[in-house]
Amino acid sequence: MCGIVGYVGEKQATPILMDGLKSLEYRGYDSAGVAVYDNGLNLVKTKGRLVELEKRLEEFPVTGIVGIGHTRWATHGEPSEINSHPHMNEESSMAVVHNGIIENYMEIRDDLLAKGHVFVSETDTEVAVHLIEHYYNQNQDLLDAVILAIKELKGSYALGVIHEDYPNQLIAARKDSPLVLGLGEGENFIASDIPAILKYTRNVYLLDDEEVAVLTKDSITIYDLYRDVVTKDIFKVTWDVAAAEKDGYEHFMMKEIMEQPKVIKDMLASRIYDDVDEVRLDNVDLSKEKLSQYSKIYIVACGTAYYSGLVGKSLIERLARIPVITEVASEFRYSDPIIDKNTLMIVISQSGETADTLAALRLAQAAGTHVIGVVNAVGSTIAREADDVLYTLAGPEIAVASTKAYSAQVCAMYLIATKIAMAYDKISIEEFRIIRNELFMLPSKIKSILDKKDQLKALAEKYADSKNVFYIGRGLDFAVSMEGALKIKEIAYLHAEPYAAGELKHGPIALIEKSTLLVGLLAQEEFYDKTISNIKEVKARGAKVLAIAMEGKNSVEKVADDVFYIPRTHWMIAPLLANIPQQLFAYYIACALGRDVDKPRNLAKSVTVE
Ligand code: G6P
Repeated sequence: MCGIVGYVGEKQATPILMDGLKSLEYRGYDSAGVAVYDNGLNLVKTKGRLVELEKRLEEFPVTGIVGIGHTRWATHGEPSEINSHPHMNEESSMAVVHNGIIENYMEIRDDLLAKGHVFVSETDTEVAVHLIEHYYNQNQDLLDAVILAIKELKGSYALGVIHEDYPNQLIAARKDSPLVLGLGEGENFIASDIPAILKYTRNVYLLDDEEVAVLTKDSITIYDLYRDVVTKDIFKVTWDVAAAEKDGYEHFMMKEIMEQPKVIKDMLASRIYDDVDEVRLDNVDLSKEKLSQYSKIYIVACGTAYYSGLVGKSLIERLARIPVITEVASEFRYSDPIIDKNTLMIVISQSGETADTLAALRLAQAAGTHVIGVVNAVGSTIAREADDVLYTLAGPEIAVASTKAYSAQVCAMYLIATKIAMAYDKISIEEFRIIRNELFMLPSKIKSILDKKDQLKALAEKYADSKNVFYIGRGLDFAVSMEGALKIKEIAYLHAEPYAAGELKHGPIALIEKSTLLVGLLAQEEFYDKTISNIKEVKARGAKVLAIAMEGKNSVEKVADDVFYIPRTHWMIAPLLANIPQQLFAYYIACALGRDVDKPRNLAKSVTVE
């Protein structure tokens, strides 16, 4: 994980680096640091969040017009000042920031130790510093040294390097970790993500794997590992910096929850039209001819994106009658999966940078499998490497816990499943029109749930002292309950388990006691009565019950302590609606418990390491 930023120009670098780091803090926040050149390299770093670094910088200000900064999510070595970045060589003539994991760091470290290098931290990053230094000592050419060093590195890296022999220069390199280069007027930037530099420029280069860039205030030159110059198109960022700010909300998470009606509207615009009887997915080939090549479909993702994939699996199977295997990417990649050119794979990722999802994509492509990426971050690695991309158009999601991106991913599943079902003639035009109509009504139905958020706040305050929470449902309700349980774990730190309603009596019911809260999902009408029976079983054992049900299904009030109603809708549209109250419930519980909602402990937004 980790966020890196770098500046070379005419202005003071430190405020620009700090500003960039603030918008990258979602990538990790256990320590942070900056190194700035001013007649020598000045380093300030500290354990803790960026505010700690800010305090340290007030005590020890650093000036200079070239610099690099880093906010860390620890992988090798505990969060501490010594392990925080930037790291320097023995003479303090070079500083390096790194995001990723250098897998062969132990071998390289042993080799460098034998050559007399002195290591001070437990990090894998420090080997990159000494390895570059090792090559630099041979011919005093920093670009050569960086290229020679990264050729030896196995694993993933985004690197920023400054050296006092090159006081007007910043070097950047990447492999399997994101890095963008920002083009300014008389200044240039590097960053792990676009929002970090959006205040200064909308023109960026998206660095590709095994490319190295040399930035001065007036130029950016990109090289491959043979030191040949690579030419690249400028990527113009079209979204606004305000989209990456809080807009008056207390937390990004709430802002992002409230944006969902618009996100879904954007998702549907240009894909379904009220006078066209088909789903249009530009750049994604799901024609009858193309689909006839596939004998099975895999959906692969991590975390929340995986749970949206479970909704997708159920929809494709039920609507199109094609078998779908859904797998978490970290398992898929080591499962020796049975895939070939007759397999279609859909990978889902908000960031487009998740290491396991990216590895799964590459594994599939190597087997000849066609990969569709359902991705939020435009220009991200997964978006670039997938054969086809369906963008989820949710805009930047800053809160670590995913909300609007999940809704957009589920919406993408609606579109894909409907498209496949139509290609196979499994649904009629009339059925399509019913689905289309329901999709068009989604934004206003989401809004009607958001308008009742105070009701969920009161429920959250009532149940905030629960010690254990079970989320139960059947079919699509079960898929949704998994996302509900994840959300409350992530941001409220409550122990929560999703369970298939019918499976509860095969063990977990033994855990039910008076302090247990059960959230029962009843948005699938066909399973309503069955899930009611399961709710009764836990109610009889003393648990408190909060039900999420469709309007008009009032008999649940007889068994539940509280009921939150969602608007009536088609069964396939219900998952998206049923999840909105779960998001708000988790959010308000986290607030009631005083949790750090946007930056929950131990988590990072973008998991770019295995
Ligand atoms: C992390 C985030 C989750 C996210 C998952 C997958 O765990 O905290 O919110 O669902 O990564 O991320 P992706 O960017 O691939 O959707």
